[in-house]
Amino acid sequence: MPTVNVDESMIALARELRDEMQQFLNEYSFGMREIETKLEILRDDFSHQHSYNPIEHLSSRLKGVESILEKVQRRGIQPNFTAIREGITDIAGVRVTCSFVNDAYRLFELLVGQDDIGLIAVKDYIAEPKSNGYKSLHAIITVPVFLPRGTVRVPVEVQFRTIAMDFWASLEHKIYYKYDKQVPQQLLDELREAALTASDLDERMERLHRQIRGSEEPVPAPQQMTSRGTHEA
Ligand code: GTP
Ligand code: MG
Repeated sequence: MPTVNVDESMIALARELRDEMQQFLNEYSFGMREIETKLEILRDDFSHQHSYNPIEHLSSRLKGVESILEKVQRRGIQPNFTAIREGITDIAGVRVTCSFVNDAYRLFELLVGQDDIGLIAVKDYIAEPKSNGYKSLHAIITVPVFLPRGTVRVPVEVQFRTIAMDFWASLEHKIYYKYDKQVPQQLLDELREAALTASDLDERMERLHRQIRGSEEPVPAPQQMTSRGTHEA
């Protein structure tokens, strides 16, 4: 086989880029873990204090390099780390699936109310569903990650939704891709109908839940939680 004369400096440059990319993604992965831990702590403390778990399911995902590059291209973002950091806020994503709508809002408040969390943007698709019927509460937040080279504030997209909203969204997502984003009108209409049915189910379940547990709120408002100071007393 003929040997290819590869420029050593090109290889070194490629390695440097690979390492920089890995460091870039690591920061998002660390931020995502910080948020997951915060949510797990809220869930575990709540389960312990009230024998009630407000979180049905927690999941997270890191955007792949290919998907980041696709978004860079689609949105006309400059292909450098600074511009990508600024322009793409969903590289780290956490999804919080709750039983009840009320829990979704309360968990949002309990997370965003924490001292080290910054709030960049909120999209309340529960109060104002998308025209296709999609519902969820989205927040872009920042969390500090403490590294040997200093502190970095990492943006994380957190989606709060109910089981019914999640069920609907995952089916809609599958249909959207199956039809390559060109979903027939009749299916779109049925999906909108199904979203209304899901919302109706959410309302009924929450009503039933309140009847069982009395007027007690599933998750207390943040100000009712024990403050850090009282523990030390
Ligand atoms: P993306 O470019 O898709 O990230 O959207 P965006 O930057 O306009 O933000 P938005 O808050 O509207 O959506 C963020 C994420 O919410 C998406 O990546 C999906 O995970 C979810 N999402 C938003 N709209 C829909 C929808 O209509 N159907 C489903 N299944 N998921 C949605
Ligand atoms: Mg996204």
